[in-house]
Amino acid sequence: MVNNGRIAIIDLGGQYCHLIARRLRDLAVDSEIFPPGIAVEALSPYAGLILSGGPQSVYDANAVTIDESVLRLDVPILGICYGHQLLAKLLGGEVTRHDGEYGFAQLTTSTLASPLPQVGGRGTGRSGRRIDSADTLFRGTSRMQQVWMSHSDAVRALPPGLVTLATTDRCECAAFAHSSKPMFGLQFHPEVAHTEYGAKILENFVRSVCRIGESGTTTSRVPALCEGIRRAATGKSVFFLVSGGVDSTVAFALCGMALPKERVFGLYVDTGLMRQGETDELRVNLAQLGLADRIRIQDASEDFFKALKGKIDPEEKRQVIGRLFVEIQAHAMHQLSIDPDHWLLGQGTIYPDTIESGGDAGRAAVIKTHHNRCDEIRELIRQGKVIEPLAEFYKDEVRALGRELGLSADLTNRWPFPGPGLAIRCLCTHAERPAAPLSQEIAASLAEDGFEGVLLPVRTVGVQGDARTYRMVVALKRKDDDIDYSILRRLSSALCNQNAAANRVMLLIGGNHSLTDARIVPATITRERLALLRQADFIARSEIEHASLAGTVWQFPVVLAPIAFQGGESIILRPVNSVDGMTASFASLPRQLLGAISGNILKLPGVDAVFLDVTNKPPATIEWE
Ligand code: XMP
Repeated sequence: MVNNGRIAIIDLGGQYCHLIARRLRDLAVDSEIFPPGIAVEALSPYAGLILSGGPQSVYDANAVTIDESVLRLDVPILGICYGHQLLAKLLGGEVTRHDGEYGFAQLTTSTLASPLPQVGGRGTGRSGRRIDSADTLFRGTSRMQQVWMSHSDAVRALPPGLVTLATTDRCECAAFAHSSKPMFGLQFHPEVAHTEYGAKILENFVRSVCRIGESGTTTSRVPALCEGIRRAATGKSVFFLVSGGVDSTVAFALCGMALPKERVFGLYVDTGLMRQGETDELRVNLAQLGLADRIRIQDASEDFFKALKGKIDPEEKRQVIGRLFVEIQAHAMHQLSIDPDHWLLGQGTIYPDTIESGGDAGRAAVIKTHHNRCDEIRELIRQGKVIEPLAEFYKDEVRALGRELGLSADLTNRWPFPGPGLAIRCLCTHAERPAAPLSQEIAASLAEDGFEGVLLPVRTVGVQGDARTYRMVVALKRKDDDIDYSILRRLSSALCNQNAAANRVMLLIGGNHSLTDARIVPATITRERLALLRQADFIARSEIEHASLAGTVWQFPVVLAPIAFQGGESIILRPVNSVDGMTASFASLPRQLLGAISGNILKLPGVDAVFLDVTNKPPATIEWE
């Protein structure tokens, strides 16, 4: 059978499943995502098959799986993370619990000289496909390379016929190949931007194993997007929720291009949870787009503070905020005498918002409910009342679209700011608790590196093994006050990999305290706390702009946490590097800049200490909640 030159991706519930399709799109390779129950016959025309990651354990009683006859198709298969473990298990290998390996890992590939037999006989296989050697996947990459991991299970034993291609110091089988069939497994994620040679490895799979040639050129997406908007909004107008950020502004601008002006109207809700100067920036940007007269700006801060009163759970805060946006939008439409039956709700939702909120198919875990995926919005989507032109895209793609539309660099390069605003950067708790000691073993190894550390019982959201975690934070202090990023990189990964109680690590950089004096104190969302956080955020932004270094980080959340030393609270700086927000590494800002930021923040009344978050994603998420 002549194959269709496309890749079938089986969605086993992973956070990065859709990202695989996006990476293939970058290689001009078409793909389709299928549920695990897809019929085998439907897969046979494909040039290759990729099994995604997923949050479950392959040995669980009800673990998601695929029809085993898929393995007998004459189609190359690449398993990633859960897909790697599932493939190994179905072929007769053993998968068991692992301590955990999240974020950065150093991969070492083995040197395999032996050529593997052809698939289906030399030159006679379907489309003449032939695998030259087991190291096909790693061709053109370094023997030692940085990969991004997120797993809490691992392949322990391989059946005859499978060979290990790579290891890390925590994973004996980080990659395998079948010796006689085009089947490969990768424990790490080649599809995420932080895996150094990820794009090359996927390219090797689709070009050298699946034999999909180079074709197609990248053309502008704008005409097709406008056409899609016109089709979706036939006979209707669009009432857009605009936040001032790059996603909603690009989506709003696309609707403004696709539809006559009178059919597009925007609402900007000032939640009172915005950063300093945010609303004014929005006015300037919309004026540049010629859409300033098509927007209503509404102060709803009182409603948001009332609804958030006493709420401490991150998911509850997110649902409350999402719901309020829908209520305010419905009320505004009523006030403007807009008939909801003739208008669609427009949002700048991008793909990570959907997948982190549990995806659309219900297989992925909920990491955090993004404001544009609360229950009320999901219901409107079910009713066909929502239009989201960017729902399939990632941040870097949206920025490129914005540049193509002629939006200013200030806007397209703007750090992402989440819809729920500072509310999810203002940590709350009802309990009062002291800092807890780390295990003797961990404390001793920290001391060797010149650090002391404690476990702080303030909980933050993480993503580990494709599932949500809500764990505590390890706080570190370096005895000589130095910031050595290479040591911190090593410690940060090790502390979360070895310590199931924590998903985040931070370093004290401002305030001369003993960490054992730290206490978590009760705190909820108040205007006063928000005002303090807004000032700290403004200081961080001003200092980094003053140093002309704002462009060196992808995002820079500033967080207020009820960690007291002398009756006040603590500010945490969270500068990160990322491409699409799906994975991230903590940014290594110059010591002098951090000193200037923390020095000025410490002058704010009510701030006891300043910390620097030194955790990658995974194991932590970018935002703390
Ligand atoms: P996390 O914290 O999950 O965030 O690593 C990934 C990216 O998403 C942003 N984010 C949001 N954006 N509504 C948004 O519009 C939300 O509810 C939301 N939650 C997180 C976050 O700032 C980061 O850029």
